[in-house]
Amino acid sequence: MRLLVTGGAGFIGSAFIRLALAGEGASGILNLDKLTYAGNLENLEAVAGDPRYRFVRGDICDAALVGRALDEFRPDAIVHFAAESHVDRAILSPEPVIETNLRGTFTLLEAAREHGIGRFLQVSTDEVYGSLAAPLEAGEEFPLRPSSPYSATKAGADLLALSYFATYKLPVVVTRASNNYGPYQFPEKLVPLTISNALEGRPLPVYGDGLQVRDWLYVDDHCRAVAALLESGRDGEIYNIGGNRSLANLDVVRQILSATGVSEELIEYVTDRPGHDRRYALSSQKTLAATGWRPEVGFEEGLSRTVAWYRANAGWIERVKSGAYQSYYERNYGDRDLELKRLGRR
Ligand code: NAD
Ligand code: DAU
Repeated sequence: MRLLVTGGAGFIGSAFIRLALAGEGASGILNLDKLTYAGNLENLEAVAGDPRYRFVRGDICDAALVGRALDEFRPDAIVHFAAESHVDRAILSPEPVIETNLRGTFTLLEAAREHGIGRFLQVSTDEVYGSLAAPLEAGEEFPLRPSSPYSATKAGADLLALSYFATYKLPVVVTRASNNYGPYQFPEKLVPLTISNALEGRPLPVYGDGLQVRDWLYVDDHCRAVAALLESGRDGEIYNIGGNRSLANLDVVRQILSATGVSEELIEYVTDRPGHDRRYALSSQKTLAATGWRPEVGFEEGLSRTVAWYRANAGWIERVKSGAYQSYYERNYGDRDLELKRLGRR
């Protein structure tokens, strides 16, 4: 298959491209990425010289550019990862989130329709189901109850994509994954932020009481599920992709402390995230039935690989944390209870 991958310079998109090019499945990949703060071509150094791989810097909201990319590259399928993906940033500044996650998805859907693309895979999230009381697990038919600007735009984009199947017969598949972790994740999300702060001896911010529950999925497991559903998902269907490993945030932080050999004293309870969902949980039975996929990397194994990667790639973190990172960090955490001097100005 020839694939147009959007957002391929980000955390999950780059893992998907590395995996797809390591196998035989992709005869060509065009990565269309705007290179926002989260896009990093260093994540793709392993494939940069592969003749099957091409990169175009561009915005998915730019209809002319998307049209040209489809005209010239003629992909069989679009795998749509590009998004403003961080809940906290979306709370601080919702506008780019609305623009990319909604208008960007609309622009791609229109272009896909005009070009008769054979498959449009919309990469989405378990956050669209909102917070679920234990022991509920969301199946794909669950009501949508997003509670943040980020999850609301993902839910909106999913519905728009599905409407293109119902209305125009565009062969859309929607996937909804739980919390990913692994190498190359931008250190704004809980796992990489905690690892990176722990390795530097900085405070580890835990929102509220730290008892919010997330289902943790190793990034390569997510990418394998996306690849399997690209091939055998049914048009117009939604598929959940969960890690089958529910943990409270505090337990995740404690496991990172033990993997990095750092003292619990670094934990700092800080003001909670507004609208913070208490618990996400997914049933992935439908994906299992459709593809035989199930997660292969357990949390302990995945975390140990991830910590080892961050230890071995201090230069990557240092470069990512230079520039605008510090001002985001101060904006997000400066308004919480932490003292700034303890955060970045030691
Ligand atoms: P990320 O923030 O690491 O990467 C996003 C990528 O999209 C970046 O390379 C960025 O440059 C690019 N991008 C942003 N706006 C763009 C635009 N307007 N035009 C072109 N490119 C643009 O995100 P991620 O964590 O890799 O998430 C990828 C996708 O997976 C997102 O759609 C996200 O909603 C979804 N998802 C993420 C998780 C998770 O745990 N990270 C879980 C489930 C679903
Ligand atoms: O559930 C899937 C979603 O997972 C994806 O759709 C999003 O793109 C991805 O960012 C992620 O969203 P979360 O908000 O769950 O991820 P984050 O790593 O930001 O937070 C995980 C949990 O940890 C959440 O309950 C908030 C908490 N947290 C986060 C940070 C950054 C803290 O307690 N402290 C922190 O400093």
